[in-house]
Amino acid sequence: MTHADRRHLSRRRALRSLAGFLAASPLVQAQREIVYTPDRMPTLDDIVNVFEMEPVCRLRLPKQNYDFIAGGVDNEWTMKRNRDAFDRFTIHPRMLVNTMKMDLSTTLFGTKIGMPVLVAPTAGHQLAHPDGEEATAKAAAASKTIMCVSSVASLPFEKIAQATDAPKWWQLYPREDDESTEARVRAAVAAGYKAVILTVDAPYNSHRERLLRNREAGQVPGQGAATTTSAPRRRRGAAETAHPYRLQPALVAAWDWTYVKRVKDWAKVPVLVKGLLTAEDAGLAKEHGADGIVVSNHGGRYLDYAPSTIEVLPEILKEVNGRMPVLIDSGFRRGTDILKALALGANAVLVGRPPLWGLGAFGQAGVEKVLQMLESELALAMGLAGQTTIQGLRPSLVRLH
Ligand code: FNR
Ligand code: LAC
Repeated sequence: MTHADRRHLSRRRALRSLAGFLAASPLVQAQREIVYTPDRMPTLDDIVNVFEMEPVCRLRLPKQNYDFIAGGVDNEWTMKRNRDAFDRFTIHPRMLVNTMKMDLSTTLFGTKIGMPVLVAPTAGHQLAHPDGEEATAKAAAASKTIMCVSSVASLPFEKIAQATDAPKWWQLYPREDDESTEARVRAAVAAGYKAVILTVDAPYNSHRERLLRNREAGQVPGQGAATTTSAPRRRRGAAETAHPYRLQPALVAAWDWTYVKRVKDWAKVPVLVKGLLTAEDAGLAKEHGADGIVVSNHGGRYLDYAPSTIEVLPEILKEVNGRMPVLIDSGFRRGTDILKALALGANAVLVGRPPLWGLGAFGQAGVEKVLQMLESELALAMGLAGQTTIQGLRPSLVRLH
């Protein structure tokens, strides 16, 4: 090897190690997604993507409210993974397709909606804005989509139901006694909710360090914010002290799959099971009568080191094999994220934090803008990929690396 060769090689090595250093540096890591550092309070018109709502929301809310919305469990590894996993999928566009007639609408359990992006059930919207869930419901209606109302909402579910005529679903955290749970489910259906989502991934209160630092031991800051007729009572009773490992059952940790049938008997509208991450559980959900499932890790708020949802979606879809709708959430922030899940075969995507950021930042108008941005990003991604309908999307559009 000549001296020049050696010099060339060592330069290459030095460049490689610089590249490695830069890739590992927090500065570059931070810039994987566009980082927005406004030098004044942005107006609604300044906001150009969903991420940009978050710092405005943070500036506008009391710290403990923002921390409740933003936080995940433990190391927040799963929460980060929810974003990172999308980078492993590329989109393989088709050209010279006439996309002038594009249709983002889809139908879920007989309800036609304008786009396959729903508002996920999230607790306590008055932590973000005094108008609470009523504002979110109006924004979802304006965007022709479904709002899923949390069973720990700030406002009574009857009031939220009346905020708009648009279809809404209701999420259930069951209570210990079947009698009161049955009564709540029946009342929610009577109030007009068109489906019930049974959330099963939160049997214990999780270790949210952002909340613990704010001396908030429970799930919802101040507790009072979510203490309404439709919120579960906080029990300090037998189950909490009786657990052998001093875990705090959030509600009841003693259910099993037979519970799905009970909820179905009470609801008499479609019941979706939310919080599944394995093909095995998707199969069990179907076996026990679920009408649909939501693949979810709860936005990284319960079990840390659970996988991101997009990475387990293919195996779950394979198991379900078209026998029931499969919805997905956790980490969706871009139209391209949504396109990837739909192309793999998900029927719709839910977004949790983004509507809350919009609500905290600008009230109803902020939620509307979040949903509009996601819709127009999805439309743009479809147009550039040569796709015209949600039903026409195929797995060949994406590739995993
Ligand atoms: C939630 N989530 C949730 N899920 C549920 O079934 N019932 C609930 O009451 C709540 N409450 C709640 C509060 C807040 C502040 C967050 C951020 C999330 C989970 C939610 O439905 C959804 O699964 C995740 O939010 C999806 O992840 P992203 O979109 O927030 O990343
Ligand atoms: C949460 C509960 C309320 O994620 O689902 O905070």
